[in-house]
Amino acid sequence: MTSTVPASATDVAEFTPSRDIDREVAEYLALVFPQGPGRDELFHLCTNCHGIQVFIFSGQSKDEGGWRLTRRNHAAYVGENDELGAAWKYATEQFGSHKPPPPPPPEELVTGWQNYL
Ligand code: HEC
Repeated sequence: MTSTVPASATDVAEFTPSRDIDREVAEYLALVFPQGPGRDELFHLCTNCHGIQVFIFSGQSKDEGGWRLTRRNHAAYVGENDELGAAWKYATEQFGSHKPPPPPPPEELVTGWQNYL
């Protein structure tokens, strides 16, 4: 049996899988949050209290009624205005049971606070 354990420090460097995290994140955001009306509002206004993972994980099973309910619950926290309306519309179009579930996000998008733009 041949060993796959690296024999030297140089080998370790060669064996360490390298990840270009910035690129992975940028590609994921471009795929799952495509450009369109309401996208900027979503990133600017909807991430003041939680990360984007709630749209990805919770949004994927919602139909329009589910999004309406979330929006109604949020009225107590955020109120309503045109910019928020655009963000809700974007979220409802991009995430929901009418689409295949998005791929799992890179872990960097799920933990901590992010500046997504
Ligand atoms: C002022 C804080 C605040 C802002 C701003 C905010 N949220 Fe939330 N959000 C919450 C809180 C608190 C919860 C958890 C309680 C709940 O589910 O209502 C939550 C939960 C969620 C959930 C998961 C629960 C569910 O109903 O599926 C989604 C999806 C969501 N928010 C979407 C959004 C969107 C889209 C926006 C922007 C239009 C937004 N949020 C802006 C506070 C906020």
